[in-house]
Amino acid sequence: MEPQDGAPCEVCGLVPLAPSLTRAARVVAHSPAMQALLKRVARFAVSDAPVAIRGETGSGKEVVARLLHANGSRPDGPFVAVNVAALPAELLESELFGHGRGAFTGAGSGRRGLFEEASGGTLFLDEIGEMSAALQAKLLRALQDGEVRRVGENRAFAVDARVVCATHRDLRDAVRDGRFREDLYYRLRVLELTVPPLRDRHEDILPLARRFVRDERRPLRGFTPPAEAALLAHAWPGNVRELANAVRHGAALAASSEIALEDLPEELAGSIARPVDAPRGDGRGGEPWLTLAALERVHVLRVLDACGGSQSEAARVLGIGRNTLWRKLRAWA
Ligand SMILES: Nc1ncnc2c1ncn2[C@@H]1O[C@H](COP(=O)(O)OP(=O)(O)OP(=O)(O)O)[C@@H](O)[C@H]1O
Ligand SMILES: [Mg+2]
Repeated sequence: MEPQDGAPCEVCGLVPLAPSLTRAARVVAHSPAMQALLKRVARFAVSDAPVAIRGETGSGKEVVARLLHANGSRPDGPFVAVNVAALPAELLESELFGHGRGAFTGAGSGRRGLFEEASGGTLFLDEIGEMSAALQAKLLRALQDGEVRRVGENRAFAVDARVVCATHRDLRDAVRDGRFREDLYYRLRVLELTVPPLRDRHEDILPLARRFVRDERRPLRGFTPPAEAALLAHAWPGNVRELANAVRHGAALAASSEIALEDLPEELAGSIARPVDAPRGDGRGGEPWLTLAALERVHVLRVLDACGGSQSEAARVLGIGRNTLWRKLRAWA
């Protein structure tokens, strides 16, 4: 299911990101929810209209923004990411729009803003919901006129950047509460994408976890079955980023070639249901015995992973009907 470097993915038709962009350059998307999202990404990428990406923290909004850029009409142009929430409003204004010579104390010589830097490419505005009212007005003008004015200057500079923005909350609420301009909202939200939380795409958990294990320097084979069961049972409020950190934690502590349950962060150990009076393990390597349900889930998802996410192939290997497999997957979702 994961596309080879440079070749379009068979499922979604997307060209994977240039490997140089990030280590997680290729996107793991085994779950139906992510495959549906990538199909939308592929359709949206060819347009230059603004895209608004919604999703919980750590779910992969920036990954999606980079995919849009890499598959768009100007993949060789710059991809400029700005975290709106990370800077105070005045600083953000001069970062985004640039400033003229001596526009404020310490401004020194004039400087291009990130909007200008992103010309011919993509401007990614992360946490757009946190933008101040004054900057919202300025952003709206830039989008309407296709030009920006540096702080302290009257001259306008033409900009031609595709704007992609992201937010972890529903902007409609912010519009209703008067914290976000309605006209800007409609301008930014021409195309909309929602990245599903990791708990709604359990087929992605083990493939992602293995990807993160491979990223580690240590030669590790993977996880013990109880560790996999815990990864599958956890609710992942911090989504993919939390999973990456859990794997890093596990890899740092692993005493053998497999990451065991006790190597994972403490909050994961509590997530697998175990009979209270079970004999003290050996489920393997001194680990607790798993319930049949937990073991079944690990086994089914392992097979599905080995079959590249194909449910019909996995059902055949497991010796059950497709519908039975589908029902199981749905029950665990
Ligand atoms: N589908 C995926 N395949 C591979 N790696 C992923 C995937 N989704 C997310 N990641 C990785 O998880 C981490 C978090 O992703 P990203 O930064 O895109 O999330 P985000 O939604 O922008 O988070 P935040 O809300 O904190 O800004 C990154 O290291 C990213 O590379
Ligand atoms: Mg982000």
